[in-house]
Amino acid sequence: MPAETERTLIIVKPDGVQRALVGEILSRFERRGLRLVGLKLIHIDRPLAEQHYAEHQGKPFYDGLIEYITLSPVVVAVLEGPHAIQVVRNTVGGTRPHEAAPGSIRGDFGVDVGRNLIHASDAPETAQTEVALYFKSNELLSYQRDVDRWISG
Ligand code: RTP
Ligand code: MG
Repeated sequence: MPAETERTLIIVKPDGVQRALVGEILSRFERRGLRLVGLKLIHIDRPLAEQHYAEHQGKPFYDGLIEYITLSPVVVAVLEGPHAIQVVRNTVGGTRPHEAAPGSIRGDFGVDVGRNLIHASDAPETAQTEVALYFKSNELLSYQRDVDRWISG
């Protein structure tokens, strides 16, 4: 029986867009076997940033984090597939790029936690909340690809 399908949110952060790594990053998730079900380019404003990172309010890095995520446009996407939340977190790598495993996005393209390229939802509850924060339900498309039966069986 196929594994349980999940949806999760990623954000290619301002440094990822500025460094022209959007295609590289999205292609890693496609190659991994996940399906894009939502995708857009937006500029996160301060109120949205504060909502997104509410859990970090009061931490020493909070002000810098809000500034970072609002610096320049970002790409937000919803990815779908078996165990998508964990698959994406592992593909992204550890929070601090200098400690992230080589082969992960942060481990291959980053060196500093203040410019760690990408956000990914960390659990089913946060995935649901974050997808709803960035996408209306009619912006998410449900479909199958011919290749999906070769990715999960
Ligand atoms: P994210 O939420 O962006 O996917 O990253 P994460 O789960 O791996 O890490 P989290 O602990 O949620 O931290 C959120 C973001 O805050 C910045 N940060 N800076 N200077 C620091 O010590 C520090 N710690 C965290 C990073 O941009 C991190 O991704
Ligand atoms: Mg986080």
